[in-house]
Amino acid sequence: MATLMKEILLSDLLARSLSREAAQPLQRQLYEVIRRGVLDHTLVAGQKLPSSRSLALELGVSRITVSLAYERLIAESYLRAAGGSGTFVSDTGARPRDTRAKTAAVEPWAPLARRGAAISTGRSGLVQHTGAFVPGVADASRFPFHLWRRAVTRHLSKSDLSLAGYAKEGAGYRPLREAIASYLGISRSVVCTADQVIVTAGTHQSIDLCARMLADVGDVAMVEDPCHWAFPSVLAAAGLQVTPGVLDQHGLALAASALPRRTRMVCTSPSHQYPTGAVMPLARRLELLAQARSRKLWVIEDDYDSEFRYDGAPLPSLQGLDRDGHVIYLGTFSKAMFSGMRMSYLVVPPQMAQAFSNACAAIYRSGHLHLQAALADFISEGHFSQHIRRMRLEYAQRQQLLREALARQLGDALALSQARAGLHLYARLTGKVSAQRLVDEAAREGLVLGQPYHLAARPTAEQRAVILGYGAVALEQIEPGVARLAQALERAGTRQTGRRRPG
Ligand SMILES: Cc1ncc(COP(=O)(O)O)c(C=O)c1O
Repeated sequence: MATLMKEILLSDLLARSLSREAAQPLQRQLYEVIRRGVLDHTLVAGQKLPSSRSLALELGVSRITVSLAYERLIAESYLRAAGGSGTFVSDTGARPRDTRAKTAAVEPWAPLARRGAAISTGRSGLVQHTGAFVPGVADASRFPFHLWRRAVTRHLSKSDLSLAGYAKEGAGYRPLREAIASYLGISRSVVCTADQVIVTAGTHQSIDLCARMLADVGDVAMVEDPCHWAFPSVLAAAGLQVTPGVLDQHGLALAASALPRRTRMVCTSPSHQYPTGAVMPLARRLELLAQARSRKLWVIEDDYDSEFRYDGAPLPSLQGLDRDGHVIYLGTFSKAMFSGMRMSYLVVPPQMAQAFSNACAAIYRSGHLHLQAALADFISEGHFSQHIRRMRLEYAQRQQLLREALARQLGDALALSQARAGLHLYARLTGKVSAQRLVDEAAREGLVLGQPYHLAARPTAEQRAVILGYGAVALEQIEPGVARLAQALERAGTRQTGRRRPG
């Protein structure tokens, strides 16, 4: 901890410990508090104490009171004076207490709530986020941080102090919402005004808001099976029952899925299903909207990586096709910028906009307005689009190279998703190797493979697959990464069948 911070904390500790009502003189009290601190290692050897003048001022006592206490502590070797450079805690030689052991031994007075226990054991994103072939992570090393820094610095100043306060509208900073609305209109055929855009701190928060605003505890939400783990974990944490929807090569097949009576919402990623990569054709999109209308369902459209299409014009968003206000559109800046941005948005139907904005203010109390202002500039000055254009070329090349290297080195052991889009490939295992064994063997090679998140307890043979991300893998690392994957696959097969490794 920085010296200055420690000095300030020590002054606070002493101020709290002194009592003017006590019979003991202040000088004696000061001596006792510091002595105890040295003995129990609250004050660690080498720590600098505040000067007698500044401590006296802080405590509202005379300087002589502090000086006399310090002198006695120095005489008894609890403190040492180091010439002109100040007064320091001495090394008394005693071993510091192990406070961790003491804390760990204390039993909680009550167990976690059932919901808390379930949340704490759920899937989380706390896994490695770098290297080959981590799924879904953008390449932050290519991000123009110098331009981003300039935009942030512009707004991180005293020139507009309202940006240092709470958001005036729960939905976020209006110029950013305007920039997002016009970007989505052009790039994704989303039909909306800035009023309908609600800025959130990551897709988890967007899902959480949908769950709380559109369903009651005990209602059912359908998710694709497999899906991104964020959906089942956040929906369940908000008290919803989560049910799996059937996927086929055209994405979510709502007509083939069993819809429990209390189903209120259906979550889907139609433009590039996560993780299988299925692209929902127009006919299926229209059918999904018709079903949503007749069954009175909300459709939560996760358009998480729509910026990255490598083979011509993408299909318009579901939201853009929706005429009845059934779709809530989710987007994120994690892929187009970098994942630590934690900036995302929803587009809600016009009639719901004020309610969603009020809800954000009520349960999240939005802020970080200077970042929102910086992002608004970053978009409107064209840096955002320029970065996307550059990265689109780069990721397209990486995907192509990954496909070629896999075909060359692994033959037909993996059947790859077809979509020329996104930051990952879904790779189905065509042989008998178990996906878990491949993931384990790949880890020994220093590779990180994603595994699809299934609601059903045991995926079928048809669903044995791994997810290979290339967003965070530089072009020159792809070929050597695939070579290591080939070795991992061979070992996984050998171990599974009990065959000895050739050679
Ligand atoms: C399917 C899907 N949706 C959404 C997200 C974005 O989540 P966030 O905004 O929390 O980064 C991801 C990120 O990996 C994703 O894979």
